[in-house]
Amino acid sequence: MSKEGSTNLILLGPPGSGKGTQARKLMEKFGIPQISTGDILRAKKKEKSKLGQEIKEIMESGRLVSDELVIQIVEERLQSDDCSYGYILDGFPRNVAQADALDQLLERIGHKITQVLDLAVNEDELVRRLTGRRVCRQCQQMFHIEFTKPKKAGICDKCGGELYQRDDDQEKTIRERLRVYRDETAPLINYYSRKKLLKSVDGLQAPETVTAEILKVIEASRQK
Ligand code: AP5
Repeated sequence: MSKEGSTNLILLGPPGSGKGTQARKLMEKFGIPQISTGDILRAKKKEKSKLGQEIKEIMESGRLVSDELVIQIVEERLQSDDCSYGYILDGFPRNVAQADALDQLLERIGHKITQVLDLAVNEDELVRRLTGRRVCRQCQQMFHIEFTKPKKAGICDKCGGELYQRDDDQEKTIRERLRVYRDETAPLINYYSRKKLLKSVDGLQAPETVTAEILKVIEASRQK
């Protein structure tokens, strides 16, 4: 059961729209966990198993991993103790089948989504952000080779870890991820609009401005 007044958020938005960046800020602000199916799958793909190899191939092609697997991951995760006061779903659900499965799961475990935030960013900007993204291997802090350069090239400002480029941040794969987003994930904008849970936020603004806008939306929804 989630506690009365818990903050259960979904961050929607195309690859590179800033879901991970905002999830980390909200996690600090509210003290609730970020549940990133992408991060969980990246950890699983390192496992030297048949499943690990399958996940690796799918992720590197830009397609979606099976609904069955991600739904199982989320089902386990949402029932952990640290989710009782809320959570931020980042990268899930990714299509209507996942959204329907989430609705059924939430009903079963007595949770309710409080807000769905869609980060709107145009495709040229998404490609610029993703091709230039660098991530710290140790603490997962994000940088960009133009917009948020580390003080020392290739080294994380926060923990001194090595920065790397994600395998799926090559332009060809990015284009495929964007196609998958348009075909499979974008229909969720209408799905959550119909449920009166969706708010769109201009993701082209500076990260701090995007956070401030998201916080205003959450505050307004609490006062209803
Ligand atoms: P996932 O890891 O979820 O990736 P994604 O959705 O493609 O999103 P990204 O992590 O690339 O971008 P983001 O929106 O978090 O942006 P970020 O904050 O990093 O999924 C990867 C793969 O896993 C999928 O392709 C699929 O194969 C699989 N998968 C995951 N979930 C699945 C599911 N539910 N079902 C099936 N398969 C699944 O920002 C990007 C860059 O922009 C950074 O450099 C950042 O510093 C910069 N930036 C951020 N905000 C701003 C700003 N406001 N202004 C300027 N720069 C900014």
